[in-house]
Amino acid sequence: MSVKKFVIRGQKPLEGTVTISGSKNAALPILAATLLADGCCTLRNIPQLTDIMVMCEILSELGCSVTKPDGSSVMVDPTHLSRNAVPYQLAGRLRGSFLVMGPLLAKTGNASIALPGGCPIGTRPIDLHVKGLAALGADIRNTQGSVIARADRLYGAKIYLDFPSVGATENIMCAAVLAEGESFIENAAVEPEIVDLANFLCSMGAKITGAGTDTIKIKGVNCLVPTQYTIISDRIEAGTFLAAAAATGGCVTVKNILPDYLKPLTAKLTEMDLSLTVDEEAITIKGNGDPRSVDIKTLPFPGFPTDMQAQMTALLTISQGTGIVTETIFENRFMHAPELNRMGASIKVAGRSAVIEGKSSLSGAKVKATDLRAGAALVIAGLAARGDTEISDIYHIERGYDRLDEKLRTLGAQIIRITDN
Ligand code: EPZ
Repeated sequence: MSVKKFVIRGQKPLEGTVTISGSKNAALPILAATLLADGCCTLRNIPQLTDIMVMCEILSELGCSVTKPDGSSVMVDPTHLSRNAVPYQLAGRLRGSFLVMGPLLAKTGNASIALPGGCPIGTRPIDLHVKGLAALGADIRNTQGSVIARADRLYGAKIYLDFPSVGATENIMCAAVLAEGESFIENAAVEPEIVDLANFLCSMGAKITGAGTDTIKIKGVNCLVPTQYTIISDRIEAGTFLAAAAATGGCVTVKNILPDYLKPLTAKLTEMDLSLTVDEEAITIKGNGDPRSVDIKTLPFPGFPTDMQAQMTALLTISQGTGIVTETIFENRFMHAPELNRMGASIKVAGRSAVIEGKSSLSGAKVKATDLRAGAALVIAGLAARGDTEISDIYHIERGYDRLDEKLRTLGAQIIRITDN
C-alpha cells in the first residue's frame, strides 16, 4: 500500500498571503441538512477535503444526486432518496457521518447509521444526540454497532444538553425543524458553525431563533425549500496558518475570514507578544522569532478552541518560557506530544494537562500524524525545525486541510508530498 508523506525543510520564515477555504465543520452538517430540502440545494465555498468527499459518498449511498459543478461547489438533490442506512465502511471514516441521523429521521421517519469514526481523540459518545432525538419522539436505540431510529412523527420538545455538544446541537436542530410544534435546545453549543447551519436551514424556510446563544428555539414547519448557500470560512485553518507564521518568525496575511470567530486565538497570540493587524476580512501576523510562552485552557466557544490546541502546543515548544496546556474537551488529545518530543521538544503530559518547556529550536525527524490536528502540529514543528522532517500518515491531515502543502509553498515553505510504495 502506498504511504503518503510530507517532507519539510524547516527554518524558512513564511511570507505572503493565503486565502482560507470553506469550513469543514460548517460544510459537514450543512451537507447532511440538504437531505431536508424538497429539491436540489447548491452549496458554495465547500473545501476540497476527504471528509467532504466521504460525506458526498454517504449522500449518494442514500440515493441523493450529488454533483460538483466546480472545485468548491456541491449540488445535492434528495428527490430520489431511496435508502436510510449508512454502513460502517462509510460512517466509520468520519465523525461527521452521524450528522445525517437528524435530517434523515426528520425527512423519512427511518434512519440506521453505523457508529461514527473520526479522530481517536477520545471515546466520543453520542448519548446526547440520542437523548435529544428521543425527546422529539424517536424510538432510537444502539444495536450491534449501529444506531437505529424510527418516528412516524416528531414532536417539539424542550431539551437540555448536559454538555454543549456541537454535533448533538446540530443533529437535534435538524430533526426539530420538521417536528410538529416548538422545540428549545438549552445549553446548546454556540460555535460559529452552529450559526452557519441555522442560517442555512432558515434560508430553506426553517424557523430558528437564538442560534449562537445557549438557547435555540425551533418552530417546526411542514417542508423546506431548496436554496443556494455559501459556507463560512474555516477558522481553524486560518488559526493554523497564523500559528505556522508565528513559529517560523514570518509575516503572513490570512484572508477571506471572519476575524471575530478567531478572537479566542488572536487574543492568545497577542499575549505571546506577537504583532497582529486585524482588518475586516483578513488578519496579518508578524512573527518576532521568540514568542513568549503562555498557558492555554480549551473550552467550548467562545473559549479557546480545542481544535487549535495541538497547533499552539507546537508553537509553545519553541517559545520563551514554560506553558501549561489544559485540554478540557477531549480525553485523549495530546497524541502529538510524543511525536513533538522526537523532534527535541520538552513536553510532559499528565492527565488533561501538558507542561511545555520552551526552547530555542527543534530538530527535524521522522514522525507520524496520529489525528487531524496533531498532524497539523507536526507540520508547524517541521516548518520551524532545523533540517528535514518527514511526516507519515498524512491522510489524517488531508481529511481536514484543503491543499495544505500547496498553500504553504505559496508562502515560501519547503514542503513536498511524496508517495512511498
Ligand atoms: C465537533 O465535534 C467538531 N467536529 C470537532 O472538530 C470539534 O473538536 C468539536 O466539535 C468541539 O468543538 C465536527 O464538527 C465534524 P462535541 P463533535 O459533540 O460534535 C462529548 C476537528 O478537528 N460528547 O462538541 O463530536 C464528547 O465526548 C474536529 O475538526 C458526549 O459526551 O464534538 C467530547 O468530550 C475534532 N456525548 C465533548 O462532548 C455526546 O453525545 C465535545 O464533543 C456528544 C459529545
